[in-house]
Amino acid sequence: MRIDILTLFPKMFEDFSSTGIFQRAIENKLVELNVYNIRDYTHDKHHVVDDYPYGGGAGMVMKPEPIFEAVESILQPNDKDEKVSVILTTPRGRLFTQKIADELTQYDRLVIICGHYEGVDERIHRYLANDEISIGDYVLSGGEPAATVIVDAVTRLIPGVLGSEESAKDDSHSGGLLEYPQYTRPPVFRDWEVPEILLSGNHGEIARWRREQSLIRTAERRPELLDKVELSSKEIRLVNEKRKNLSEEE
Ligand code: ADE
Repeated sequence: MRIDILTLFPKMFEDFSSTGIFQRAIENKLVELNVYNIRDYTHDKHHVVDDYPYGGGAGMVMKPEPIFEAVESILQPNDKDEKVSVILTTPRGRLFTQKIADELTQYDRLVIICGHYEGVDERIHRYLANDEISIGDYVLSGGEPAATVIVDAVTRLIPGVLGSEESAKDDSHSGGLLEYPQYTRPPVFRDWEVPEILLSGNHGEIARWRREQSLIRTAERRPELLDKVELSSKEIRLVNEKRKNLSEEE
């Protein structure tokens, strides 16, 4: 996958692309990451990228010309067979989820525009981006952290990026539930013991325990996720019991 990021702050991506799984993914040519400075696509002496909003109001708005020019030059020449998504990071976008991360792995190329200031000119929303993504119901001072979140979540789903395909499969959210508790050595740390079942070597029992823990955790912390997951009748009973206990505690 090729990922192109358009930003006013290219430095924010330096450490990101040179560490951890992302660096390995680049080295193994599973991902190509290019970062472009939107300012480089201006033609005036002061490299102006923003302007006052028509109609008045606080703050500045990102101008359309440099962003259109940057995207159009990055996509030229464009291989017509390539599947491309041009994404704008914005608090008014659709809320980013694991499902959307999965969906984005279908593309050959992602072009991510990092919004700034009070926002970007509406013509960028309408005529340049085909997708708008928010990473949460809060306002960041710029779209760069959102772009790194999206790129990270998508990259780790690309086959071969993680050491073992298994580790993405069991992640929180990948099966619609939060992940079960994980432990490593030592078996006893400051009197806190690893649950005995995990030391038993009984893989069937361990899988059952993990599923149950995932269900309990999800019922406690993100009950709305349970509505989208298929549960056995035994699991429904467990979840209902947990929900009942929680509402009694309130
Ligand atoms: N830019 C500012 N806030 C944002 C958010 N929550 N998600 C994506 N981009 C943003």
